[in-house]
This record gives sequence, C-alpha cells and structure tokens, in this order.
Amino acid sequence: MSVHTEFKKVTTNALQEMKRRGEKISMLTAYDFTMAKLVDEAGIDVVLVGDSASNVMAGFETTLPITLEHMIYHASSVVRGIDRALVVVDMPFGSYQGNSKEALSNAIRIMKESGGHAVKLEGGGEIIDSIERILRAGIPVMGHLGLTPQSIYKFGTYSVRAKEEAEASQLLVDAVALEKAGCFALVLEKIPSALATQVAKAVDIPVIGIGAGGGVDGQVLVLHDMLGMNHTFNPRFLRRYANLHKEITGAVQRYVQDVKDCDFPSAEESY
Ligand code: KIV
Repeated sequence: MSVHTEFKKVTTNALQEMKRRGEKISMLTAYDFTMAKLVDEAGIDVVLVGDSASNVMAGFETTLPITLEHMIYHASSVVRGIDRALVVVDMPFGSYQGNSKEALSNAIRIMKESGGHAVKLEGGGEIIDSIERILRAGIPVMGHLGLTPQSIYKFGTYSVRAKEEAEASQLLVDAVALEKAGCFALVLEKIPSALATQVAKAVDIPVIGIGAGGGVDGQVLVLHDMLGMNHTFNPRFLRRYANLHKEITGAVQRYVQDVKDCDFPSAEESY
C-alpha cells in the first residue's frame, strides 16, 4: 500500500500546500537511524526528533534533562535514515528560553551538526524574540502550544490544557502571533478539540495535533507509544497500531529458552 503524496521530498512549502488542499499531514517521532528509516520508508510526512527522547530513550521522568548534545546526536542519527520526510528537531529545555542570541546559536548548532531541516520550540509570546531571531537566520520554526511538557513543573500535571476561557483565548492569541512571526507550522498538544479546530481555521499555517481532535491539519504521536512498546502509558488520545511489547518480550523469551535448552545455535547456524 502506498500512502505517499506527490511530494518526493517533504518541505515546509509542501506542508503548506497539503493544508491548502485539505490533505492531512502525518507526523511521528523518531530518535535513531533504524526507526527513522522504517517510518520514512512507510511514507511518513514529518519526523519529529522530539525531546520525548528524554523519556523514551533515556528513561527520565520528564523532558527537562535532555541536553543540546543529546538532541544533536539523536537528530543526526535520524537524518541518516531519511530520504523523503521533513525532519524537525526539538530545541531542548534551557536552549532557547534565556535570550534570543543564545537561542539562535543553539538552533544553528542543531542545523549544522545534525542536518535537520527545522526546529521546534515550546511556547508563545514569551519566546517570540527567540523565534524571530531564529527565523531571520533562515531556519524554519515549528511552534508548540497547549500542553508544553518542558513547563511541567509550572503546570504541575499533564492533564488537558486551555479548558478555561482565559487560557483558551491566550492560546489563540499565541497561535496567531506564531504565524505572524513566520512559523511554518504549529503543534497543539492535549487541548479541547473545539479549540484546536478554531485555531486551525484561524491560521493559514498547518496545525498538527496530539490529543487535539480531528479538526486540525495533521496528527503526531510518539512512535514507541503508537507501536505499543509501552503498555503503562494509556492516554485517551493514543491509538496503538501494534503490540510490540508483547512481540518483543515474546521473542526474547523464546531466545532465552532456546539458549538454555542448547537449541540455539543449531548445526546450520554454526561455522
Ligand atoms: O517531544 C515530543 O515527542 C513532542 C510531541 C509530543 C509533539 O513534542
């Protein structure tokens, strides 16, 4: 089954065109060469080297500990596996909130050292100086509003954001400001569907949701979650397309048994 669109290489302009003609955008995370190659071959439009690598790859409880060097390592591994998809790299916590000059030099390091195609930053008006400076240097920026996990200690919980009117209208203002600044796309995480739909209609740039309903221009999930590698994380928005937890533990159990039983390696598997 081919799910490729007409685009041989997905660019920021291609995403814009997909929104214009009503074609939904598919996006998944990847953090390494092998998985990136698999998702690219399967026809994904955008690969996000998410700072969720902090949780998924490194086992930290939050996304805060991951460093710029770690992100560059993950992103450069991903880029080597990609032929078609657009690769967006998360700027890690602490790499862009201080001041816009620092933000720009960190974004430049990501682009130069990883070969990624764009960066993603969490936040709205409060980081607009950093976003504008990065954009002026010719680096495409994806915004991220709603539940922004780098601010978990401010929120205190990972529950749905912008349920109250004040936060919802601020989110709309921030979305418009990000578009005006020049962001090429926007992620909305864990907000009510009605609000996400309203944002997607209010801006011309593609809006990609995670836990934001079906009224937006595309969807993103964490790869390891949608492949069912983790059976303890069960948010309502997550659809599992495989049960790799069962597949992998089953395969490892069979291998362990075969080794213990002296069934592996066989004569045919030996030199
Ligand atoms: O880091 C990440 O995986 C993300 C997605 C949840 C959008 O930012």
